[in-house]
Amino acid sequence: MSLSKIIKSRVSNTNFNEKQVDSNLLIDLLDVAVYAPNHKMREPWRFIILQNEGKKKLISKYLEVLNDEQKEIFEPAVLKVFKAPVVVAFIMPTNLDLHDELEDMEAVATVIQNFMLLATEAGLATAWKTPKYIETEKFKEILGLSIKEIVIGLVMVGYSDLARDPKPRKAAKDLTTIYK
Ligand SMILES: Cc1cc2nc3c(=O)[nH]c(=O)nc-3n(C[C@H](O)[C@H](O)[C@H](O)COP(=O)(O)O)c2cc1C
Repeated sequence: MSLSKIIKSRVSNTNFNEKQVDSNLLIDLLDVAVYAPNHKMREPWRFIILQNEGKKKLISKYLEVLNDEQKEIFEPAVLKVFKAPVVVAFIMPTNLDLHDELEDMEAVATVIQNFMLLATEAGLATAWKTPKYIETEKFKEILGLSIKEIVIGLVMVGYSDLARDPKPRKAAKDLTTIYK
């Protein structure tokens, strides 16, 4: 598949079937995805792959520590994301310098897009999610983050039997100013 075809065929798809995803394949994809631009080669990322028992344990541990009010708010969103065969968490160290931190977030976002494109090429379905609970101390602690780390996104991964068409985008010519 050409790069433009891969870009256009990557769609958010959470309609997963039962087929298991090999974590070694995901590591291989991440090993390519990290060839992303990043300022001063800070490589401001690490990854957590959640699947099978590890995923189940994390969800139950997290739901256990929530009070009733938090459970009501977060449980449906947790179950929605973690229904995926695999969830990959993209983790970034915080940076005291706001300019550097924004650069780092931009760099991690490019790694996420690279990862999803490579996953598309490998026949996997993906969806990028940023539910509110990823910002909570309880979730971060149970995921094993240090206080200096944040979750930039959760990517749901699995195989799907459903082929979805991309949502249409505005034409670049209508969004572009050319000075020449
Ligand atoms: C930073 C970021 C955060 C996102 N968070 C969510 C989310 O929390 N829930 C969700 O349903 N989709 C989320 N999405 C996916 C977008 O809704 C989706 O990419 C968009 O609708 C375009 O559809 P497509 O991915 O099929 O092209 C997120 C996308 C990005 C880039």
